[in-house]
Amino acid sequence: MSVQEYLDKHMLSRKLEDAVNAAVRAKTPDPVLFISNHMKKSVQSVITKVKARQILDSRGIPTVEVDLHTNKGVFRASVPSGDSSGMYEAVELRDGDKGVYLGNGVAKAVKNINDKISEALVGMDPTLQSQIDQAMIDLDKTEKKGELGANAILAVPLYRHIADLYGKVSPMLPVPAFTVISGGKHAGNNLAIQEIMILPTGANRFVEALQMGTETYHHLKAVITEKYGTHDCNVGESGGFAPNEAIRRAGYTDKIQIALDVAATNFCIGTRYDLDFKSPQKSGQNFLSAEDMVELYRELCNDFPIVSIEDPFDKEDWEHIKRFSSTGICQVVGDDLLMSNVKRIERAILEYACNALLLKINQVGTVTEVIEVVKQAKEAHWGVVTSHRCGETIDSFIADLSVGLSVGQIKAGAPCRGERLEKYIQLLRIEEELGDQAVYCGVDWKQ
Ligand code: PGA
Ligand code: ZN
Repeated sequence: MSVQEYLDKHMLSRKLEDAVNAAVRAKTPDPVLFISNHMKKSVQSVITKVKARQILDSRGIPTVEVDLHTNKGVFRASVPSGDSSGMYEAVELRDGDKGVYLGNGVAKAVKNINDKISEALVGMDPTLQSQIDQAMIDLDKTEKKGELGANAILAVPLYRHIADLYGKVSPMLPVPAFTVISGGKHAGNNLAIQEIMILPTGANRFVEALQMGTETYHHLKAVITEKYGTHDCNVGESGGFAPNEAIRRAGYTDKIQIALDVAATNFCIGTRYDLDFKSPQKSGQNFLSAEDMVELYRELCNDFPIVSIEDPFDKEDWEHIKRFSSTGICQVVGDDLLMSNVKRIERAILEYACNALLLKINQVGTVTEVIEVVKQAKEAHWGVVTSHRCGETIDSFIADLSVGLSVGQIKAGAPCRGERLEKYIQLLRIEEELGDQAVYCGVDWKQ
């Protein structure tokens, strides 16, 4: 092909002229840079290579990281993992070879990405999310993505056009739920409740919410040391007291609310709930019936500014969660109850079992399906809480996702430790970038 034919084929003189005109209109101080960027934008994006590797999550357990190479740059993402995996969520593919990382290796998922997913995606436009997700779903014909592994599918990092993908929605910054006390399976103390969180709903901006939550978190350390000694373990039944006192000391009474993740499935024995399940000297006498639990929640919500309770009953105890939700005392969030599973969510909507979804995106599998699930929840006027997992990576995708979908709430742990902070810091960056356009959900956290 002659040079002239090449220029004609790519309409280069037209494109260059457009770029020069644009540079003139923009009165740019750096025309060469402006023109080269303009030209780059006029080229369609295309995936050139997909490269996965095994990394470790915050618990030292293997997970998947992917570099998505495009003609315009390389993008990196990784997948989290959690404890409360259930039979309804997308399958997390693990190698099972006990001799390697105690069976938790993800070499098969990595191989699936480097071979099958890579082959399917190379050449595609990375901005076409639904086509890309569909290509991956077509590769994995099983309903729960057991063949390729959901850890393989979600890790593929794609452009963050989430708000556009969702449709007409103005991005909003979510209210963060900072975990300030851990119990349940997540901690070595005697507290049955898995998490006590604080929600700075009274902040005007996200940056202020982060400050309020962090200050309260530091005050809480002092409250616990004074009240319970340096062993911050034994918060036990007074769990609700300490955060409330810390909120008061930080000067944020009425501006910070409290949320609980009871994760009650972990201590449901038959039809009863064993609040002493972690106590070494447990007598077995302190079992509560589901009715007693309703009463306990009622009292807690009365005594403390608790506005949200997650998994208040066993994940199969539909009867009592329905009964509790119908009291309207607080937001009732389904995590283990729903496992982010479309069919479980459908049932919960029909039966008024709960009124908010805990969204763990790796339980769903693809971004397109995550968007569908959020639509489903919002159409039912539910709250949506985007959630991290206990095994996290430094990936901050859920921060962008929360803003893009305007979910209203994000739960990403305490305001400490890199892999948790990365989500909150990404929200700071997004707020900064949005500038005057930034809207913090605040008191409208239920969206
Ligand atoms: P995970 O769940 O331990 O499965 O990540 C955390 C939660 O219960 O919210
Ligand atoms: Zn939970």
